[in-house]
Amino acid sequence: EKGGYDHFMLKEIYEQPRAIQDSYRGRLLADQGLIKMAGVDDNLEKFMNANRIIIVACGTSWHAGLVAEYIFEDLARIPVEVEYASEFRYRNPVITDKDVVIAISQSGETADTLAAIKLAKEKGAFVFGVCNVVGSTISRETDAGAYTHAGPEIGVASTKAFTTQITVLTLIALKLAKEKGVFSQSKYHEFLTELENIPSKVEKALLSNDLIEKVAAVYKDATNCLYLGRGYNFPVALEGALKLKEISYIHAEGYPAAEMKHGPIALIDEQMPVFVIATKRGHYEKVVSNIQEIKSRKGKIIAIVTEGDETVKELADHVIEVPETFESLTPLLTTIPLQLLSYHIALMRGCNVDQPRNLAKSVTVE
Ligand code: F6R
Repeated sequence: EKGGYDHFMLKEIYEQPRAIQDSYRGRLLADQGLIKMAGVDDNLEKFMNANRIIIVACGTSWHAGLVAEYIFEDLARIPVEVEYASEFRYRNPVITDKDVVIAISQSGETADTLAAIKLAKEKGAFVFGVCNVVGSTISRETDAGAYTHAGPEIGVASTKAFTTQITVLTLIALKLAKEKGVFSQSKYHEFLTELENIPSKVEKALLSNDLIEKVAAVYKDATNCLYLGRGYNFPVALEGALKLKEISYIHAEGYPAAEMKHGPIALIDEQMPVFVIATKRGHYEKVVSNIQEIKSRKGKIIAIVTEGDETVKELADHVIEVPETFESLTPLLTTIPLQLLSYHIALMRGCNVDQPRNLAKSVTVE
């Protein structure tokens, strides 16, 4: 049932090209220059008239929400707030009937996310669900929604759910960008075409697996790790750190790269591996200068770079390449090596990759 893989997590990492394709199949019609999503089409007025979008989620799904914040604001120019469902529900939040709430949940059963949805509905907001499990409680409790169609995710550490959530949210943002006239037909078309290239680019990113295994062997005994990224890749840094923590039990922190000098830089010495997402565009030069700061404090640098990068290669201890794509689509690629790294490190440490201690696949209690 693991399809020849040793673990569900590895199988699910490798399923991502297909899962991403499944998440846009029948929705993304690049040749017609069209995105069709019934849940959005039927409620277009709600989205178009929204004062803001509030995203509620937990864990990895919350990280997908953060990526979506960058996408919605950058591409569709709609203000977005991303909330931990557990904080939102108890904060007496300001919600009105002009708000659209998007709840993101792989399982569709997360107790805090469900409670946040109920609260938002009581206050009159329109609530849209992005779930993976068909017929789940959250998919039933929301006013409308879009499934991620990633297929069953068995490994406790979320992988393909994350990339398919980002894909579905990107589709929604692109659709709204077009409706609002923020995007020209040609720009829209370029995006749709590039989105269709993503599965094969993910495939290419997966080819670094052997290299990543070697890198994992070097850092498997670390006790602390730092993950840094900026812009669209800041949430990817958070997600990379979460993946490492939950399956390898190594303490890891994700930070926006520029925040490093406001504290975490004090941690850096020759024992500290720092994983930096340094893809082209998206504040590349600034990330390069962050890398120089780490290097001058003797930190070990493992950089995720764009194919063919020469600058970072000179500075970093290891570089892992991903194909080039639009800045807003880079999270779909930069996430891949970080998933594989966590997998290999956890395996080398003898951890139960698919069933990490203290964790459950769906968190139905608060
Ligand atoms: C991380 C992980 C958790 C979940 C979180 C939300 O790998 O699996 O952080 O992402 O519990 O779960 P869902 O998406 O089912 O609401």
